[in-house]
Amino acid sequence: MGKERNNFGSKIGIVLATAGSAVGLGNIWRFPFMTGENGGAAFILIYIGCILLLGIPGMISEFIVGRHAATNAVSAYGKLASGKGWKIIGVLGIVSATIILGFYSVVAGWCLQYLYASVAGRLNGDSAYVSNYFAAFSGSVVMPIVWGLVFILLTHLVVIRGVRNGIEKASKMFMPILFVLLLIIVIASCLLPGAGRGIEFLFKPDFSKVDGGVFLSALGQAFFSLSLGTACLCTYASYFGKQTNLMRSASQIALIDSMIAILAGLMIFPAAFSVGVSPDSGPSLIFITLPSVFQQAFAAVPMVGYVISILFYALLALAAITSTISMHEIGTVFFHEQLKLSRKSAAAIVTVVAAIICVFCSLSVGACDGLQLFGMSLMDFFDFLTAQIMLPVGALLTCVYVGWVAPRKVVQHEFTNGSNARSILFTVYLFAARFVCPVCIILIFLNQFGVI
Ligand code: TRP
Repeated sequence: MGKERNNFGSKIGIVLATAGSAVGLGNIWRFPFMTGENGGAAFILIYIGCILLLGIPGMISEFIVGRHAATNAVSAYGKLASGKGWKIIGVLGIVSATIILGFYSVVAGWCLQYLYASVAGRLNGDSAYVSNYFAAFSGSVVMPIVWGLVFILLTHLVVIRGVRNGIEKASKMFMPILFVLLLIIVIASCLLPGAGRGIEFLFKPDFSKVDGGVFLSALGQAFFSLSLGTACLCTYASYFGKQTNLMRSASQIALIDSMIAILAGLMIFPAAFSVGVSPDSGPSLIFITLPSVFQQAFAAVPMVGYVISILFYALLALAAITSTISMHEIGTVFFHEQLKLSRKSAAAIVTVVAAIICVFCSLSVGACDGLQLFGMSLMDFFDFLTAQIMLPVGALLTCVYVGWVAPRKVVQHEFTNGSNARSILFTVYLFAARFVCPVCIILIFLNQFGVI
């Protein structure tokens, strides 16, 4: 089996595919509403702190496990050190990635509906009209489920084409388009009258809103956005070449990811402030407020609102699919290699499980609002469970595993690509993986759950 294993074909392919996984609804849908709910610039500063101190070392740790093992997540966590127990990190990763794929596809499906509605000119109207439109659409039973399932199916079709022809090709095509679309809308949004207040909200910190919850939210957001903690990066790294510089790749991807999140903020808040929409309107921000923002804000010039709205939802759908591909791949390659199934059948298992989760999540925020767990809709519960519990736990265990359990020589060999020279960067990384990450993640947990 080892011999048939495909790798990414080029350096740029590696960066774009992994950045494609990282850049997604997490940046364009989740980041803006989390920022809006948690006080703007102060949240962003803590978020950036989490990326630098915990995110990058976490990414490198997953890369080390994956690239060294060159196999699926579960066997990878058994390879770096003896003792089979650590494989549980891989199993947990597959479980959380598949749950995320399920609820993420619900929102990705909404994007498809909105793309369609934008093209058909159905989003033209005042804010009451648009918010009714969202309520009517998301409250119906069939259409949201259909779009969610369509999205999972599209993901399935890319994944079965394999690493080079499916994942890498899609990312190389979609990522540049995504960046251009984003820039166009950012410029349009920042040129609106009154946009300055939105920019100020993003860049002028107000620490009065910061409490333990904000730290956990920022941590969860950082990990979610980097695709960290579900063995997703470990799986992608298993397709890296031996020459790939892990530290450099992690930094590049973290930089691209954070830049796109901030650009997404620059796209959404100036437009929202310009028409007096509150920044903390939560997960529906981009579906309820934005369509009318686009219409009102660009009302002076005919067609601009119409075109911007189409571009925006196309952008979201593209960003989402390069991410769902990566969530799907983790489970697919596991079933493919472990159960010796064909890639197609392996992918079918993931698709079916994610589809079931998608259906229930979709109903829980629409037609059956009784579908709740711990007082949250099923969808919010899964989002909380994965982003704020499972991902930090996954990243914590990975850092402990690489920092303390795996033989240091092997870890150093992967980090430095085989050069035996003493490396300051390696020392810094090892310190972060051994001490900084575990201690910070545990402190944030203890604080959030009321122990300290
Ligand atoms: N990072 C993606 C985003 O920001 C989501 C994502 C893709 C993800 N793969 C993942 C999140 C694996 C957690 C784990 O939208």
